[in-house]
Amino acid sequence: MRISVIGCGYLGAVHAAAMASLGHEVVGIEVDAHKAASLSAGNAPFFEPGLPEILREGVASGRLAFSTDMGDAAGAKVHFVCVGTPQKPGEFAADLTQVEQSFTMLLPHLAEGDVVVGKSTVPVGTAEALAVRLTSIGATLIWNPEFLREGFAVQDTLHPDRLVYGLPTDDTGTSTEAGEKARQALDEVYSVTLSEGTPLVVTDYATAQLVKVAANSFLATKISFINAMSELCEVTGADVTRLADAIGYDVRIGRQFLNAGLGFGGGCLPKDIRAFMARAGELGVDQALSFLREVDAINMRRRVRMVDLAREMCNGSIAGLNIAVLGAAFKPLSDDIRDSPALSVAAQMQLQGARVTVTDPQAIDNARRKWPELRFAPTALEAAEGADVVLLATEWAEYRELDPVSLGKVVRERRMLDGRNVLDPTVWRGADWTYRALGRP
Ligand code: UDX
Repeated sequence: MRISVIGCGYLGAVHAAAMASLGHEVVGIEVDAHKAASLSAGNAPFFEPGLPEILREGVASGRLAFSTDMGDAAGAKVHFVCVGTPQKPGEFAADLTQVEQSFTMLLPHLAEGDVVVGKSTVPVGTAEALAVRLTSIGATLIWNPEFLREGFAVQDTLHPDRLVYGLPTDDTGTSTEAGEKARQALDEVYSVTLSEGTPLVVTDYATAQLVKVAANSFLATKISFINAMSELCEVTGADVTRLADAIGYDVRIGRQFLNAGLGFGGGCLPKDIRAFMARAGELGVDQALSFLREVDAINMRRRVRMVDLAREMCNGSIAGLNIAVLGAAFKPLSDDIRDSPALSVAAQMQLQGARVTVTDPQAIDNARRKWPELRFAPTALEAAEGADVVLLATEWAEYRELDPVSLGKVVRERRMLDGRNVLDPTVWRGADWTYRALGRP
């Protein structure tokens, strides 16, 4: 199948390479010439395990190419729209400029019978409006949200938990003939994945668009729920990690996404719950999502609480102290620093007069560009040199496995703040460290 992928950022680059690895002929269209050139040379412009391999293999096989010219999308049967929908500055709503522009630029290159597949996360109602623009050409829109996690993006694309198709429907809610035809083309694209027994939910546009934001809202709520419990644990002397284990054994609850700590960040959960609230307001049902305001507030409180905890540990002030922050990425296995809790706390500590040194196995370059006022060190041991406090902010495996004795030799004061509840307090206290964490006694 000949495929085009419009927008080769995080989602698009992975999707294009993954589709080529399934045997399709793929062209990725990317407006950023630098990014397109890097991808064409088989180099991933960001860190994602497994991506460099399938990217290089695709380019070498001749099945995968990248271009800055939308005209190169002509001739493809299925066109995936994978552009970003960031939060509008100063507002909760999503900025749909890139989606609008990519449609406008793609339209002249579409042929009758083409299928356009929307993968970007959009406010419900967007697909319906976009579909109208395709009717005169005889092309059909399917909404097919993406659920990939950074760090596992290749695996999540090739072996997703489920596929969701939002098809055009008639007045009775039945999918149209054109919709059914388009569905066959998409089934062909995903034939390998479908043959593995991946569940497929076929529905209408509105449901398909809502599935994505509902899933992300649920995940964000789960994290903020356990972080709210963490606030209770902090004032009662209870241990949130044991509490999470205990409630997580209930299969109706499940242990995943119950890791209390600095909370969620990244390019998806924070902006998606805010855009969802904004959309609910436009639809006149803002009350239905008012709980998400609380989810967001609990999440942001964790960052403030972490700085307070550092002050508590240091007799009321961190001014003039050296603080090592382990982690800059919003989560491990990623170099993404968008809305990173680690960097937000590091910057706040610096504002309060501390000398902050940040380290990260992958995200230092990105972090330095965005936060030039912070200091950076290549390794945990170097960042911790002379530190009065060490804050574990992103739970990379190498930080979880740090040896308290070796680290204890380079710091000035043995104070460990475990922002992700991943260290064993007994081990660290046994090595003469003062250990504090969010939600643990
Ligand atoms: C998320 C969704 O998981 C994915 O399905 C969607 O397509 C995009 O958004 P991602 O942003 O890559 O994926 O990260 P995720 O693994 O969900 O983690 C999000 C944030 O939550 C991270 O900052 C992480 O540290 C935090 N988190 C996660 C917790 O604080 N506690 C947890 O228990 C789990």
